[in-house]
Amino acid sequence: MYDNWEELEQSIINCKKCKLYQNRTNIVFGTGNKNADIMFIGEGPGADEDKEGEPFVGKAGKLMNEAFKGLGIKREEVYIANIVKCRPPSNRVPEEDEAVACLNYLRNQVILVKPKIIVLLGSTALKNILGKEYGITNARGKWIEKKGIMYMPTWHPAALLRDENKKIEFWKDLKEVVNKLK
Ligand code: URA
Repeated sequence: MYDNWEELEQSIINCKKCKLYQNRTNIVFGTGNKNADIMFIGEGPGADEDKEGEPFVGKAGKLMNEAFKGLGIKREEVYIANIVKCRPPSNRVPEEDEAVACLNYLRNQVILVKPKIIVLLGSTALKNILGKEYGITNARGKWIEKKGIMYMPTWHPAALLRDENKKIEFWKDLKEVVNKLK
């Protein structure tokens, strides 16, 4: 574990801890306010993110930005990262060994950001952070406290593209998050 961002970022630049390095264009480390109260954790980079080196810049990210705008959340005020930092081929779910290899980077990011709230975007984030016993359908929208951090599991923004009802729930969950800090 590193106690500063420079060393952490340096340590990841040539990462080959899992097979995902073979196809990456860019490592998608994370973005936003390094002292944020709210941290968002997604699954892994897609094609757009791999190209730009920034999380949630593609279609799902645009939807997330819309929700942010409507709720008065500024993207630059929060911190956004993923379970894995390199793009899984064809946007498949990260495999167990890939997530395990990458998770210490994310843990280090959480330690440095010290968020009050972590929003878990979808099943992959939920299961890898809080445990395999959780399911997103049951857990979403409910606060879970662990080691002084409040977790809010919600739908992955990509799921909203497929189901309008999930959009309403996603907004509701993020509204809870905003209200919690008031
Ligand atoms: N989906 C994710 O889970 N993360 C991204 O950064 C982009 C899409």
